[in-house]
Amino acid sequence: MKEKVFVFAALPYVNSSLHLGHIAGAYLPYDVFRRFLKLRGYDVISTSGSDEHGTPITVKSIREGIPPEEIVEKYHKLNLEIFRKMNIEFDAYIETSSELHKEITSKFLVTLKNKDYIYEAEMTQPFCVKENIFLADRYVKGKCPYCGYEEATGDQCENCGRTLEPGELIDPLCIFDLTTPEFRQTKHLFFRLSKLQEDLEKYIDSRANWRQNVLNFTRNFISGGLKDRPITRDLNWGVDVPFPGYENKKIYVWFEALIGYITGVSTVLDSQEDALAMWKNPNLRYYHFVGKDNIVFHSIIWPGMLLAHGNMILPYFVAANEFLNFRGEKFSKSKGTGFSMIQLLERYDPEFIRFGVLYNLPEEHDADFTIEEFENRVNTELIDKFGNFVNRALILAFKKGPISIDQIAQNDLDTEAENRIRNSIATIIKEMDGVHIRNAFRAWLELAYYGNSYITNRKPWEQCKRDDANCNAAIYTGVKIVFALAVSGQMFLPATSKKILSWLGYEEQVELKDDLGFPVSRITSKPDKLFEKIVSNTINLRLQIAQVKEVDDHPNAEKLYLLDLDLGDSNRRIVSGIKGSYSKEALKGKKIVVVTNLKPASIRGETSNGMLLAAEDEQGIHLVLAPESAKNGEDVKIGELQTDPSEISIEKFRKLVIKTARRGSDIVPALFINEKQLFLEISNGSLILDGSPGEGLVIK
Ligand code: MF3
Ligand code: ZN
Repeated sequence: MKEKVFVFAALPYVNSSLHLGHIAGAYLPYDVFRRFLKLRGYDVISTSGSDEHGTPITVKSIREGIPPEEIVEKYHKLNLEIFRKMNIEFDAYIETSSELHKEITSKFLVTLKNKDYIYEAEMTQPFCVKENIFLADRYVKGKCPYCGYEEATGDQCENCGRTLEPGELIDPLCIFDLTTPEFRQTKHLFFRLSKLQEDLEKYIDSRANWRQNVLNFTRNFISGGLKDRPITRDLNWGVDVPFPGYENKKIYVWFEALIGYITGVSTVLDSQEDALAMWKNPNLRYYHFVGKDNIVFHSIIWPGMLLAHGNMILPYFVAANEFLNFRGEKFSKSKGTGFSMIQLLERYDPEFIRFGVLYNLPEEHDADFTIEEFENRVNTELIDKFGNFVNRALILAFKKGPISIDQIAQNDLDTEAENRIRNSIATIIKEMDGVHIRNAFRAWLELAYYGNSYITNRKPWEQCKRDDANCNAAIYTGVKIVFALAVSGQMFLPATSKKILSWLGYEEQVELKDDLGFPVSRITSKPDKLFEKIVSNTINLRLQIAQVKEVDDHPNAEKLYLLDLDLGDSNRRIVSGIKGSYSKEALKGKKIVVVTNLKPASIRGETSNGMLLAAEDEQGIHLVLAPESAKNGEDVKIGELQTDPSEISIEKFRKLVIKTARRGSDIVPALFINEKQLFLEISNGSLILDGSPGEGLVIK
């Protein structure tokens, strides 16, 4: 076993359950990385836990009228369930309200006090007269003095990520009653961070391998000059301060939550002394996975606390991801943007979620997430390419039965594949060593794509009719690629890789060695299908009922009309090619179906804002009509699908197959997805075709 390595994920506040942004920002990269180290033979301890104190929790508790203990238990359990389903594992997952954590925190603080890093001082804090409380951290909000964001709170600006003091907020307000607070004197304990300025500068200068985003943020913070920081609060929910005169105060949540890493390791080792001793071993390396709004706490405050404690090894690497956005906006529970993990896990296989997040990991830049892209990517990249390749290779091998090494005659394609495997594995390991998880994942995926084209080009099914040794070589090499993908894939897609490895006869985890080696033909059980495709439940299409108000000839095109439509609360104009089948009079007043989220297009100099649905046969064009009772602007339902009304291009629209279909004795319009018919319907009556064209006609 190689050296000891710690891997930590930030302790999430348990004031809500995790959303996809958290998973992408910290927990999935954390899990992939700890799996990687274990596969490489390191002696890993990896922990996290619930951050259960501070105003994030009490605000929620007050707002919902539920005691903080209950809030904390509820979300702690939900998060554990999310991690379990996602296969994100911890050697210990602590709670900061535990007795052990309180004890370790208390001792830590006493050590710092004994070393003269803690002192008492008076400070002014906002005080709400109406509520009769000091307004710590998130109890006060106002405008950020740096970026002008209006909803900044007394601890941090969510927009620019800077840490704040309540006194810095412009126009501060009490969040409970929106009154303007007074500023009053109160005494607190301070951490002498200013004394560590030089040591911390040196520390950061020695971290050349850190990501630029983390270095920039950290350097910026230090160069402003480090100030001593108050580490107690006028609150009643948190860890007690172990000194007289502080009975009505608590330790600042960040100060104690960071110590949660020591609590985590102590829990795993079942000894605080052993944990501290390990922290002093010069060979120790450890990694922090955190979201971007946690950077300075891990790159400055925490190292500062450890320096003050004495002889403790500082973080080797702070990996902070950027944000995962949802359609360009930050995931935010309060604004209802993005997806909670609970929602996603109800709908998707956790391996798909891991795949989707890794594909778009916001490592150095923000990344964007949409359900449509996610579903598409899983279906086309993971299932069609990776899954299909694995299946083809393994089924061939299974059918062929055992092959021995002297029955193999490799050709150039096989030698190329051997090189390719070696290079891919080397790249994956190198990228993972540097904590470039996205690059490592892409290299893995490239190998899967390669495998897919290898099989297609190598055509074992043809060779196997003619030349046995050649056929054996193709099968052997194909399975070898699968083996390489499964072994290195154990960190990315653990459940999938485990399944594949078990078909190859491995029930235990397989180490990721530089040279993987490969046992000749070991398929022990019949491989079955790896995945079921995602059948989408959302469609990027909006259809509405519109009534024709005016019909004009297109000034520049003989066969086109300009139709002015009434959509209830709006009007729009479309250009349409139905002149050959409908007179102006016949059209006026008709209730038709229009695609209303189509990108506007200029057709012979006239802008068309949509397209109508119609079918065509030898007799001409037949409109899809709604009954008189339909309301103008009413949405057309498409089977059971949710509709996503964001704009789509004409190319994308054309890929949707809308045809006529038979329903009982009627011929009606329907959308076809994966051969499944979805009928177009409105709430009141059904859509009909104007005249009855034959089956299977394309709607224009
Ligand atoms: N609770 C904080 C958050 O959710 C992170 C704390 S990380 C810790 O942003 F390790 F310091 F606790
Ligand atoms: Zn700001």
